Amino acid sequence: MPEQDTAHEAIGAVLARMPDPVGYHEARALEAGLAQAFGVRRAVALSSGTAAIHTALAACGIGPGQDVLMPAVTVVMTVAAVVATGAHPIFVDAADDGRGMDLKDLAAKTGPDTAAILAVHLAGRTDRIHEVAAYARTAGLRLIEDACQAQGTTTGGRNAGTIGDIGAFSLKDGKVISCGEGGYLLTDDTDLADRAAAFRTHWQTPAPGAPGGSRLGHNFRLAEPLAALARHQLQRFPEALAQRRHQAVTLHHAVDDTPGLEPLHPADGEHPNGYSALWRLTLPEPRAFSTRLAGAGVPNSVGTHCLTAVHRHPACAHLATGDLARAQATVDALLAVPFTEHDTDDVLRELALTIRQEAARWQAR
Ligand SMILES: Cc1ncc(COP(=O)(O)O)c(C=O)c1O
Repeated sequence: MPEQDTAHEAIGAVLARMPDPVGYHEARALEAGLAQAFGVRRAVALSSGTAAIHTALAACGIGPGQDVLMPAVTVVMTVAAVVATGAHPIFVDAADDGRGMDLKDLAAKTGPDTAAILAVHLAGRTDRIHEVAAYARTAGLRLIEDACQAQGTTTGGRNAGTIGDIGAFSLKDGKVISCGEGGYLLTDDTDLADRAAAFRTHWQTPAPGAPGGSRLGHNFRLAEPLAALARHQLQRFPEALAQRRHQAVTLHHAVDDTPGLEPLHPADGEHPNGYSALWRLTLPEPRAFSTRLAGAGVPNSVGTHCLTAVHRHPACAHLATGDLARAQATVDALLAVPFTEHDTDDVLRELALTIRQEAARWQAR
């Protein structure tokens, strides 16, 4: 596929070829580009990040009667994907310092039915992924990474989403590479990739151990115009990543030393993608503060998107097991301000001013 100069040209070329019900040219070219960009053997293009997590689990053979360990600090889409496979999500509490899963709780909740760990790199942070990966290996569990917010984050020189067996990414609007809606998987395991590709398209293609037509799957294909757009975005991935990192550093500096906001620095060896600026709030009633910030024009996970630990989500509460108090306290105190490519330095200065003013007012109440 020739490279296109603009997104309009890229989509125009696809439209000129349509209808092309079996072509899948753009999606295949996108997969080749993603595999090369992230240094893995295979990429599988999908219709969303949720579909990518679901497909990763299905490719690993996870389904009814099996348990999947996952953090309680995540978004509801991660839970929905596990439940859609028929497997049972087991929520793991947050670590003492709020960075990732509590490894003791992870081990304590591993049982005879546990098949996999689904780690989530919220806000582009990988937290204790290497320790989780070591535990998964010893315990003989699959490790799937929900890297939907972590395109471009590296840790110990490895790309987020390429540390476990398979990593799931979102191409939804607002992600570092996006095409409106979409997703993909990255893996070095060609059997997993073949099974993911079969599942994505109603198992119409053969996969190791399962001939074409032998199982049910889904239509999780990425539409060709969206794949063309994603390919176009992929060409500018290095610049997009540099811009996000610049935005995160700029906003952190501009908010530096604001009482009530502790910056959450990257873990050792981690180079986050700048998906969000990230602080731990030490202000009283931090959730109410985040809501107020959202109202004042500073988008953030808790205030804008009502992020809560998933065991407190009305649709997931019945799935909670054990004490998950640290998870909720971690989410409540999290101030994650996501960026878009439209956030210029001027916009960031305005955001910083609002954050500083609102924090001072909150302290003075
Ligand atoms: C951590 C995480 N997991 C999963 C998803 C689901 O991705 P999608 O909206 O593309 O289905 C998202 C979406 O933002 C996400 O942030």
